[in-house]
Amino acid sequence: MNPELRELADEYDRALEDYLAGRGEAALQEAYELGRKTLKKGLGMLDVATLQQRALLKCLVRARTTKEGTRILRMAQKLFVESLLPFEMSHRRVQEVNTALRESEQRYRNLVDTARDVIYTLSIDGKIKSLNPVFETITGWLRAEWIGKEFSPLVHPDDLPRAVTLLQVVLASRVPPTFELRIRAKSGAYIPGEFTATPQTQDGRVVGVLGVARDITDRKRAEEALRRLNEALEEEVKRIAHALHDEAGQLLASVHIGLADVARDLPPHTSRRLDDVRGLLTKIEEQLRHLSHELRPTILDDLGLQPAIEFLADGVSRRTGLQIVVEGAPGKRMPAPTETALYRIVQEALTNVTKHAQASHVTIRFVRDGRLLRCSIHDNGTGFDVLAVQARRGVRGLGLIGIQERLNAVGGTLNVASAPGKGAELIISVPVEAGGADADPPRR
Ligand SMILES: Nc1ncnc2c1ncn2[C@@H]1O[C@H](COP(=O)(O)OP(=O)(O)O)[C@@H](O)[C@H]1O
Ligand SMILES: [Mg+2]
Repeated sequence: MNPELRELADEYDRALEDYLAGRGEAALQEAYELGRKTLKKGLGMLDVATLQQRALLKCLVRARTTKEGTRILRMAQKLFVESLLPFEMSHRRVQEVNTALRESEQRYRNLVDTARDVIYTLSIDGKIKSLNPVFETITGWLRAEWIGKEFSPLVHPDDLPRAVTLLQVVLASRVPPTFELRIRAKSGAYIPGEFTATPQTQDGRVVGVLGVARDITDRKRAEEALRRLNEALEEEVKRIAHALHDEAGQLLASVHIGLADVARDLPPHTSRRLDDVRGLLTKIEEQLRHLSHELRPTILDDLGLQPAIEFLADGVSRRTGLQIVVEGAPGKRMPAPTETALYRIVQEALTNVTKHAQASHVTIRFVRDGRLLRCSIHDNGTGFDVLAVQARRGVRGLGLIGIQERLNAVGGTLNVASAPGKGAELIISVPVEAGGADADPPRR
């Protein structure tokens, strides 16, 4: 018998002696404590049984009569039960914890099984470990066709390099921002998906990837519809701007000539009154020209983004007194939708500055960075709480949302940096063809 057990054996002997000597509750309490101690030391019920057996034997040999022996046996049994109580309680607790665990596991299962997004796990070598049932509904594949296989054939070949890079990022224990990948359905069609991926760790080691993928077909369709609508609107605006500028402008010019003719045939005092009318006509012409330029500067189509932005900045500056500096150059001509989007975005940004910022100075800066064109619009005004404004999305103000949507249509991104009292900066990035920063000749 090891020393630990021996010590407990002595205690058990004492407890039994006390109980037989009529110490009732106190002795039972001793036995209970002894049971607790045994449990705490990591010993088992069998050890307690051994202790009880030894103590009982010692007492029984002293028994003189059968009656005495029966009494000892009965009392020893009561004490034994008391010493086992802590084991019984601990056992019950384990059962309760197990039940709770099973229930929690079941809840989690239900959640995964009924989720409308795909929940997936990957092993570190890029094999699919699990997929929830909705994967079958969305893609038409059976889960069994993919579990245990590499994920790569599921991804559009053009998206695969990015997917592999992102897997590396997650395996390096980092969480990338949400990303989009096209997934090959059983029908062969590709489904646009929005993905999240996080590392799965065990004992501080990354053992796989856990992620959620959402089918964003509907959102993509809506974006595409919006893009087409924007383009159609832009065309319409262009048509109206040109009609205003060219047709109405020419008509007004003819009126001018006509009036000059009439003036020649009139006596001087009447012709002076006509001069007033001609002055008004000139003002109308100016306003028309202005309006048509604001609607759609022909300069954007003819000369490109930079001159158009400079023209816009100049106009805003003259109207509002705001000092606007344009730095850097957008470089090579870009596809019309990109140029239009950037022009409209800068226009909205400047409108916001004049409407909300109480600024005195704005810097518009273009930086060409490989395949990205970055454009920032930075004011020194009151600034605003970006998160709060984003949270009240849709309640008021379509400007920033409109900017975001225009960017979605051309694959660009928007970052807003601002805090109350700190001015505001819109940073826009759009993908462009790689190439020099020199402007191309006009397109038309
Ligand atoms: N440059 C800026 N300076 C200060 N506040 C701004 C600026 N730009 C935007 N905001 C704030 O963000 C809000 C949302 O802007 P926006 O989406 O363009 O809507 P709207 O201009 O119609 O209010 C504005 O109401 C304003 O509070
Ligand atoms: Mg606005």
